[in-house]
Amino acid sequence: MNSMSNRRILLIDDTPAIHDDFRKILTPEDESNAELQDMESALFGEAPKTVTTVFELDSAYGGQEGLGKLQQALAKERPYALAFVDMRMPEGWDGAKTIEELWKVDPQLQVVVCTAYSDYSWDELLDRLNGHDRLLILKKPFDNIEVQQMANTLTTKWEMTSRARLKMNKLEDLVEQRTLAFKQASELLQMEIDERKLLETQLVQSEKLASLGQLAAGVAHEINNPIGFISSNLGALGGYFSKLEEMLQAYGSAEQAIASPELVMNLKSLRQEVELDFLVEDIPVLIKESKDGIARVGQIVKDLKDFSRVDSSQEWQMANLQQGMDSTLNIVANEIKYKADVVKQYSPLPEVECLPSQINQVIMNLIVNAAQAIGPERGTITLRNGVEGDNVWIEVADNGSGIPPETLQKIFDPFFTTKPIGQGTGLGLSLSYGIVKKHNGEITVSSEVGVGTTFRVELPVRQMKLAG
Ligand SMILES: Nc1ncnc2c1ncn2[C@@H]1O[C@H](COP(=O)(O)OP(=O)(O)O)[C@@H](O)[C@H]1O
Ligand SMILES: [Mg+2]
Repeated sequence: MNSMSNRRILLIDDTPAIHDDFRKILTPEDESNAELQDMESALFGEAPKTVTTVFELDSAYGGQEGLGKLQQALAKERPYALAFVDMRMPEGWDGAKTIEELWKVDPQLQVVVCTAYSDYSWDELLDRLNGHDRLLILKKPFDNIEVQQMANTLTTKWEMTSRARLKMNKLEDLVEQRTLAFKQASELLQMEIDERKLLETQLVQSEKLASLGQLAAGVAHEINNPIGFISSNLGALGGYFSKLEEMLQAYGSAEQAIASPELVMNLKSLRQEVELDFLVEDIPVLIKESKDGIARVGQIVKDLKDFSRVDSSQEWQMANLQQGMDSTLNIVANEIKYKADVVKQYSPLPEVECLPSQINQVIMNLIVNAAQAIGPERGTITLRNGVEGDNVWIEVADNGSGIPPETLQKIFDPFFTTKPIGQGTGLGLSLSYGIVKKHNGEITVSSEVGVGTTFRVELPVRQMKLAG
């Protein structure tokens, strides 16, 4: 038997005789099968028909009793498909109230209201019960066939509705499952996209560094030579010029001994014409400026070389980063002592496997940047460090200018600088980035304009595999 099949009917009527009538009509095989068949043949003509549909009929003689039966039936998971409810029941609930209560516990129940007359208008009743789609009206006196057909069609309607609801639920479950699967898939996808983006940026960054490194190595090599001879020539030139100057002075003193006034005049006007005094004064200045200039070029080339061969000669060793921070601070102390106070917030660190001079270079870049970010007013540079899991971290924080968000993405780019020529090469951070990556670490920055900037470097205590 189909689990959806339900021929259970509840009759609620205060008149016992009505129950007998219904029983005869709806459960013919009980007692009066033959009688009913007679009635049927009378109704439908010659061929006596067997009633194929057999109903299970329960009786209640008042609204409250009916509700009780309905609740029991539901508790046993044997719901009624249909209830016939008498409209006028002088004791207890009337039909309208009864139906209201029945539907509160079982909204699926199909209902036929039986009445000879009513205390409500039909519209009023339907509106009150909000039951336009599951309430039929059977006016007394009724024909048997009316009752039978109502029972037939309404129990079938109950079944179909149940089936549809079940399908709907299944469908909804399915939709929910699918939606969940989609959501999970899309979350996974998003994660993958994010990861890819990150990898891409890292790749771009390291590619930039690599190609730039090659270029820089070549350029540095080519430039180093001329720098060498230019600066040594400038040194020689300075020396030569002091000798010339000495000679000139000697000539000057000798002028007094010249007898020919004409010659003296000529020399005098020539001296004025070439502005000899100015030349003597200016040439050493020019030589000095050129020397400074070429020294600066030398420094840039050195930076470039450091940058390009991130460490071929050095050895990995265990080192104390705190010592590194302090010694680096000493080296740059001169640069910062007029600009900022230094605050140290240290905690004990384990030794870290690293290329110490390279890490010091990173720390130096960060401290110099911090000092340079501090304006005319005296600021503070805070050095912090600590341990987190298998990593050691150091932070260099300043309360300087801060970095605007649109600039933040560019600061690790080679040659990106916001500083005037001569002050910044734009290599400090990209160099540092390369060094930290080589240590399998991370360098991150957080910054707020007008508040300050914090750079954080996180390094694993041990290197899993040494970068070749
Ligand atoms: N602590 C800081 N505060 C503000 N800006 C900074 C800081 N550190 C770096 N920057 C910005 O990042 C840029 C790049 O820094 P860097 O690579 O060291 O090159 P440089 O210092 O030669 O300009 C700087 O020009 C500056 O704009
Ligand atoms: Mg810098």
